[in-house]
Amino acid sequence: MPTVKEILQTMDYGPAPEAESHVAAWLQQHEKGFRHFIGGAFVASKGKTSFDVTNPARDTVLGKVAEGTAEDIDAAVKAARKAFPAWSGLPGHERARYLYAIARHIQKRERFLSVLETMDNGKPIRESRDIDIPLVARHFYHHAGWAELMESEFAGYGPVGVCGQIIPWNFPLLMLAWKIAPALAAGNTVVLKPAEFTPLTALAFAEICREAGLPEGVVNIVTGDGATGAALVAHPDVDKIAFTGSTEVGRLIRQATAGSGKKLSLELGGKSPFIVYEDADLDGAVEGVVDAIWFNQGQVCCAGSRLLLQEGIAERFLGKLKRRMETLRVGDPLDKSVDMGAIVAPVQLQRIRDLVKKGESEGGTLWQSNCALPAKGNFYPPSIFVDVEPSSTVSEVEIFGPVAVAMTFRTPEEAIQLANHTRYGLAASIWSENINRALDTAARMKSGVVWVNCTNLFDAAAGFGGYRESGFGREGGREGMYEYLKPDWEKALPAAEDAKAAALSVSPAEAPTGNALPTIDRTAKLFVGGKQARPDSGYSYTVKSSAGATLGQAGLGNRKDIRNAVEAATKAGGWGSVTAHNRAQVLYYIAENMAARAAEFEQRLASFGHNAKAAKAEVEKSIRRIFYYAAQADKYDGRVHATRTRNVTLAMNEPFGVVGILCPDEAPLLGFVSLALPAIAMGNRVVVVPSPAFPLAATDFYQILETSDVPTGVVNIVTGARDELAKTLAEHDDVDALWYHGSRSGAASAEKASAGNLKATWTNQGRPISWLVDAQAQGEDYLRHATQVKNIWVPYGE
Ligand code: NAI
Repeated sequence: MPTVKEILQTMDYGPAPEAESHVAAWLQQHEKGFRHFIGGAFVASKGKTSFDVTNPARDTVLGKVAEGTAEDIDAAVKAARKAFPAWSGLPGHERARYLYAIARHIQKRERFLSVLETMDNGKPIRESRDIDIPLVARHFYHHAGWAELMESEFAGYGPVGVCGQIIPWNFPLLMLAWKIAPALAAGNTVVLKPAEFTPLTALAFAEICREAGLPEGVVNIVTGDGATGAALVAHPDVDKIAFTGSTEVGRLIRQATAGSGKKLSLELGGKSPFIVYEDADLDGAVEGVVDAIWFNQGQVCCAGSRLLLQEGIAERFLGKLKRRMETLRVGDPLDKSVDMGAIVAPVQLQRIRDLVKKGESEGGTLWQSNCALPAKGNFYPPSIFVDVEPSSTVSEVEIFGPVAVAMTFRTPEEAIQLANHTRYGLAASIWSENINRALDTAARMKSGVVWVNCTNLFDAAAGFGGYRESGFGREGGREGMYEYLKPDWEKALPAAEDAKAAALSVSPAEAPTGNALPTIDRTAKLFVGGKQARPDSGYSYTVKSSAGATLGQAGLGNRKDIRNAVEAATKAGGWGSVTAHNRAQVLYYIAENMAARAAEFEQRLASFGHNAKAAKAEVEKSIRRIFYYAAQADKYDGRVHATRTRNVTLAMNEPFGVVGILCPDEAPLLGFVSLALPAIAMGNRVVVVPSPAFPLAATDFYQILETSDVPTGVVNIVTGARDELAKTLAEHDDVDALWYHGSRSGAASAEKASAGNLKATWTNQGRPISWLVDAQAQGEDYLRHATQVKNIWVPYGE
């Protein structure tokens, strides 16, 4: 032990260990092995397998945990189902009291939970004590508030049911809180599976649920690995899956839940840019990098792992960063003056080493801090790659460790291009003293979170979640609550139908009947990029009325037509950035032109077999609905979330981009209008497949589009076989979201095919909607599905 005099001479850090005796005593109590938490009790696993949980900083065993079996999952789901009616039936205020009690109990156990988290995960006690656990408590307090306000703030919505929740190891208790707090606030019950490396704080949380008197079965926790998680995903009585983890597993879960009707939210990987403009406060930005990539050993889905530095300051910045790296202390995470702890497990450490080796073999120059590493445990030094190509492996793949890559750019335009050059879209951090430039860049980031002159800030009041292959859905804030709610109108829908769609016939048909003179043949073409286009197949199919009379022909669209339409839609990106007023004006103009041709549309609908009254009602409702979305175009806007002081967190509703829409047969015109209009009102471009049985109302509609100032490529119409075209749209990487209305099996295969780029899907699961009923066919649900929330954090003050 050095003397005080020696310490004053060297100014070196002395040891500052956090006491661990209380946690050691708790682990001792569970020496024989931990149990699952099911129906309010700790129960033995039905299986025989268990595994060790280790302290990654010391290579010591902390305890034994059961490998949950499908039987264990079934017991937990049954307990959650049994608890659901009473829990969801409680007034919001009563649920709020439970959530409030949980938050209080977490605070009372704050130090215990921090130490346990650090021992289980390897993260520095400074982080678990000052970030993770306080945020856990904050999450329960915040959501106690949502429970209280459920009836007023979410009128018309109810809980989804039993939620299966699967979480990763990087923020074990915080991810649990992000999942359980909103679920419970909304009235759901849950079965949660913690990660195999870090299950201990979840089991301590189970004890807190008992202490807080939470009714049995509301929260159930089953430990285990991927197989246990897969059993939870597959369980038929689970109504929703919420997952955080790797993009690969997210994709498997998307496929496994396709067609099941389970609601799904996925929070996946990232490769987030950290942009430093030459007018940035460089010292501030250097500290930002420390928090971006060396926080939690870089095992953070939104880690700022790609440093994009403007050329003029790159060298100076890297010099400063290199000096700062040398001062970081890596070591025993229970030491209060340590900056970086241990990597979670040997397999993750090996993964980091392998990727770094690959980076070097591809020509990157590796800089590593010379800091001393402990001899035992999974430690890795702070590292940066310089001289890397944007397309090298380490620039593209999520390393999930303390390794950043640095690249340079010349202009803001180039920075934005590089930043968005990734399949992910979780977060971005932008550093500039020029607020105009910073906000312009923020607006153009394809990511769910943007931090301006800050990084890795989180709060329960703001949504967190990704664009593109970083997943869909939000956690936190009002937007996060919707992931655990379902609209009451869905209950009114009839059971799923799986009527096989009639085959489309390309054979010559009977001539249209009832005309004295031969009519002038009018061929409905496709509408792509603002032009009428012949189908690539060269085929048209016969359209018949409900009574079987031939009405005409429509183009038989194929893959190539969809590709052309998507290309046209992609090029029409400017639609998302015109003013909302401008979009509203265009929509009103569509309504105006439609009203002028109402009689013609009524006649068209009558020809399908509608009676005159029904035809009139459908046309009138279509015009009303266009008015509704024109009105909403500049009103369905974002919010400013109350997160921190001296900070605005702007929650902006942004369009997805290109949305593929498959229309129902029930209401050939109104179905088309009810789906395409909210999507374009919010700034999306659409590729619409109209009702295959009655496409002619939609093909008449393009004449309205042509005369209503709708920019080229904003609405594209491809007629043909719904399910075949749905598959092409679902598989297309440039389609950002997919809405499907058709059969149950068609919905299932569209969802499955969408797993490629993890596009957000919204399907009717084969349950037909009453399109004339506003409560079902119009409203904020449609606008919410047409947008994704981007949270931009802007601190202010000198
Ligand atoms: P993972 O995605 O395999 O594990 C996350 C959770 O999913 C764990 O609870 C695991 O047991 C469960 N799981 C695994 N396979 C499953 C399946 N088929 N069905 C249902 N649940 C399943 O992540 P892993 O293997 O721990 O880490 C691998 C890589 O994933 C990391 O190197 C990192 O790149 C990424 N990752 C990303 C995270 C994020 O927050 N975005 C968190 C953890 C890992």
